[in-house]
Amino acid sequence: MEGRTLVLCTANAGKVTEMRAMMPAGWQVLSLAEAGIREELPETGSTLEENALQKARTAHALCGLPCIADDTGLEVDALGGAPGVYSARYAGPERDDRANVRKLLDVLSGSVDRRAHFRTVIAWVEAGAEHLFEGRVDGSITTEENGAGGFGYDPVFRPEGSELTFAEMERGEKNAISHRGRAMARFAEWMKGR
Ligand code: IMP
Repeated sequence: MEGRTLVLCTANAGKVTEMRAMMPAGWQVLSLAEAGIREELPETGSTLEENALQKARTAHALCGLPCIADDTGLEVDALGGAPGVYSARYAGPERDDRANVRKLLDVLSGSVDRRAHFRTVIAWVEAGAEHLFEGRVDGSITTEENGAGGFGYDPVFRPEGSELTFAEMERGEKNAISHRGRAMARFAEWMKGR
């Protein structure tokens, strides 16, 4: 049983539900609380990879089960890849989505190059092995907010080939092409072969 249990390092119940839905049969997904981990996991790396690994390694050291953690960033070409690993705290430590979006629109005002991509890195850490899975979606930053769905930077991110921002899409439509959806699909595919 224990070998078929993994811990998803997140406090976000939505992510746990999403992950349970995509796991191969026989695997049980625990949240941090369900694995008895109450402390906040450190996230002090300077790349998405470092942060994801840091969270998964810390949780694995605490509970001994295989652990996975993800980290996501919005990387804007005209800003040299910023806000990137600092996306959540772009406008300050409060991690305020609305303020982050307003700051991004402000910083990019007048910029013709609006190319950007989201990148998600998922880290898997178990006894004796670590793996990374990446998902990416290319697109552009709109000049104003559009749509009420989603979260974070969704109202200003329009994926390549679409007229809509992520916030204007149905959830399934976004997940099918999103950075996180793609990283999770890669991870789920790898899990099937275990
Ligand atoms: P986290 O790694 O999931 O905590 O996300 C880091 C930052 O990226 C936060 O500011 C999130 O709001 C933002 N973010 C993550 N995923 C998405 C997404 O799918 N759409 C829009 N913003 C996102």
